[in-house]
Amino acid sequence: MSRRKELVQRFGSPLYVYDLDRVRAARQDLRAALPPQFTLFYSLKANPHPEIARALGTGEGACRAEVCSMGELDSALEAGFPAAEILYGGPGKTAAELDQAVRAGVRHFSVESVGDLRRVGAVATDHDAVADCLLRVNSESSAATSSIRMTGTPSQFGIDGETLADSAEELRSVPGTRLVGAHFFPLSNARDEESLISEFRQSIEAAARMRDELGLPMRFLDIGGGFAASYAGPGERPRYQKLRGELEQTLDVHFPGWREGEVQIACESGRYLVGDSGELLTRVTNIKTSRGRKFVILDAGINTFGGMAGLGRLLPLSITVDADRTGTGEGEPQGDELATLVGPLCTPGDILGRNVSVPALSEGDLVTIPNAGAYGATASLLHFLSRPAPAEVLVSGDEVVSATRLETARTRVPE
Ligand SMILES: Cc1ncc(COP(=O)(O)O)c(C=O)c1O
Repeated sequence: MSRRKELVQRFGSPLYVYDLDRVRAARQDLRAALPPQFTLFYSLKANPHPEIARALGTGEGACRAEVCSMGELDSALEAGFPAAEILYGGPGKTAAELDQAVRAGVRHFSVESVGDLRRVGAVATDHDAVADCLLRVNSESSAATSSIRMTGTPSQFGIDGETLADSAEELRSVPGTRLVGAHFFPLSNARDEESLISEFRQSIEAAARMRDELGLPMRFLDIGGGFAASYAGPGERPRYQKLRGELEQTLDVHFPGWREGEVQIACESGRYLVGDSGELLTRVTNIKTSRGRKFVILDAGINTFGGMAGLGRLLPLSITVDADRTGTGEGEPQGDELATLVGPLCTPGDILGRNVSVPALSEGDLVTIPNAGAYGATASLLHFLSRPAPAEVLVSGDEVVSATRLETARTRVPE
């Protein structure tokens, strides 16, 4: 029996399978592409599974955690990240969640506006603490192209670069806070290495200007990420050959002393670290033809793997059929055909892929969506139509390390 079929027999379908060895290999590759002095944050939004976070937070090249919610903070703490090293960010931080975060021991925050900084300061003061804050900047312009652009345009993220001069003084003197540097995150999933390099260069130059022209402190500089990964289709993680040298050169010009730790430089990544560690196994439950179009109905829809559908974009998704066929068809699937891959939800929006080239499938076939380790389960409409969440299995070598399912329960809200 194939390994995938065996796992589905044990844990059910749909099923996410994450390989911890691949998670560690991705970290090693990313570390090798960056200067060794760099701090590397794992962004839990890509996959908040505590055991995946634990794999990234321990061992050689350990990452720190970057979180944006209480749920992610809980995962990070469960994974063993020391609270005092966690970076807490996001554009909608409330006083209540900040209170919980500071209570838990978090002392590093990325702040998105003067108001956000004041809110962090007020909560820190209540706890007799001082919060080290990175100012997230929405630069005036941006260099690269990517699939997901986050700055250079009007945005809920960061403080507009051109307004910094007006608020510089205020930013330096908010009680309960210590402004320690800047945070940039201009893009996700950069198209190529050149784009990534020019984006990082712009951020480093902008940070140097903030220090030189506005006198803002720059002891900690988080230049963000944008490291790419294939998503739901075939493909390998890019290997960045030039990045390290280019970063070192640019930092030498603008932040001499960075190599000795005068300025701590950080990067962040979600998808690069975990994207290729995971695959989604799903079964064909029905096949039908409607007005000449073939529909393959899977037991996983946008409730299981809906991150991009939620953003209004369909993925160039691909599937492979398990060699050990379990459907009603016999032997090797014959020839490719075009089909629309849909899930089980009662909405026409439950589409994973339109006109996808698939082998001739039969009901019961087990198919695999590759590169599904990032923005999978928790980026999906998990509760829509009240179906159970998929199980998530972690493997290392031949061993199943953990098998869990995210459950939700309706609970009484305390008044
Ligand atoms: C601030 C910040 N950090 C990190 C990430 C992770 O991005 P990726 O998974 O593409 O590495 C994001 C993604 O939106 C982000 O907004």
